[in-house]
Amino acid sequence: MSNPSLLILPGDGIGPEVMAEVRRIIAWFGEKRGITFDVSEDLVGGAAYDAHGTPLHDDTMAKAQSVDAVLLGAVGGPKYDGLDFSVKPERGLLRLRKEMDLFANLRPAQCFDALADFSSLKRDVVAGLDIMIVRELTSGIYFGEPRGIIEEGNERVGINTQRYTESEIDRVARSAFELAMKRGKKVCSMEKANVMESGILWREVVTEVGKDYPEVELSHMYADAGAMQLVRWPKQFDVIVTDNLFGDLLSDAAAMLTGSLGMLPSASLGAPMENGRPKALYEPVHGSAPDIAGQAKANPIACVLSFAMALRYSFDLGAEAERVEAAVNKVLGDGARTADLLGEEGVTPVSTSGMGDAILAALD
Ligand code: NAI
Ligand code: MG
Repeated sequence: MSNPSLLILPGDGIGPEVMAEVRRIIAWFGEKRGITFDVSEDLVGGAAYDAHGTPLHDDTMAKAQSVDAVLLGAVGGPKYDGLDFSVKPERGLLRLRKEMDLFANLRPAQCFDALADFSSLKRDVVAGLDIMIVRELTSGIYFGEPRGIIEEGNERVGINTQRYTESEIDRVARSAFELAMKRGKKVCSMEKANVMESGILWREVVTEVGKDYPEVELSHMYADAGAMQLVRWPKQFDVIVTDNLFGDLLSDAAAMLTGSLGMLPSASLGAPMENGRPKALYEPVHGSAPDIAGQAKANPIACVLSFAMALRYSFDLGAEAERVEAAVNKVLGDGARTADLLGEEGVTPVSTSGMGDAILAALD
């Protein structure tokens, strides 16, 4: 069997800085665990624009379609603010998402013990938290027709349409159940079936899909009640699956249960490829952070945890993903803090590579 393949797209700003630390972890896996990836690296965003005049070269797009997983840093920066919309760095990322048809956006909310006091919620409520929100990303109210602002009588009317086909619901639900099988075997589906027909269909289709996963416990919640439960007792959840709009809100709220932007990984998954693995793009939630770029201050953990997600969800290396997460937990427990994680007085922050050193040492 060939090695699992990974395309690395560091991008702009702190993207290359945090990705350098992930490259060291990938090398560690080859040396210490005998797990070798076929890694290729290419440009995206402003870096690609500088080299090719486009934020994503066709060759890079083709490569992204052929690998097992793509790992992206971040794109954008003030240098590119004046560019025409069609070649803005963000367009590179949007093209990847669109052409790979990445319909399931995965946003974990994971709380590392040492950071439990960073949360706005009580320590008990968040310590040990590990939940996953799966947000449908390619349909729903952000895309539905008709849309627009029209004149009606003597006033204007703003219109957006919530629209979901059975197949769109089916495929994102399947992603959620597949994930649950690799996690805590629970799925909670959130919609507003009490007031929205699209929600009624959502509930019916998710229930149907659930029959293919008898080991997974399925529950349903109205999304507003779900929002309350998420801040009341988030540990009741394992995987939450929801539509584009509700997922946008719920995933941002859940992210903040656990603290800094520099800690948050994400993944976007598409349909299964021939080898059974889903098309996949992994990336930290944060952007290129131009305010700290080039200063060795960036927290690499969001990117490191994105790689851990790739281990678990693209490469079926769940135990190795846990190894990485445990290493992160250990260095945080030992007190290593990049500047974004400083809360306590008198702690000297470590640099980006200093955090990388600590994670590698903990892996050993
Ligand atoms: P940002 O996420 O880049 O930064 C927001 C704040 O968080 C900044 O103060 C930054 O220093 C801090 N921060 C972010 N990541 C950090 C890390 N790993 N370690 C320590 N501190 C961190 O968002 P912002 O400032 O709104 O956008 C900056 C640029 O990034 C823009 O060009 C924007 O378009 C782009 N962007 C790209 C994204 C992507 O590539 N997926 C997502 C969000 C923004
Ligand atoms: Mg949002």
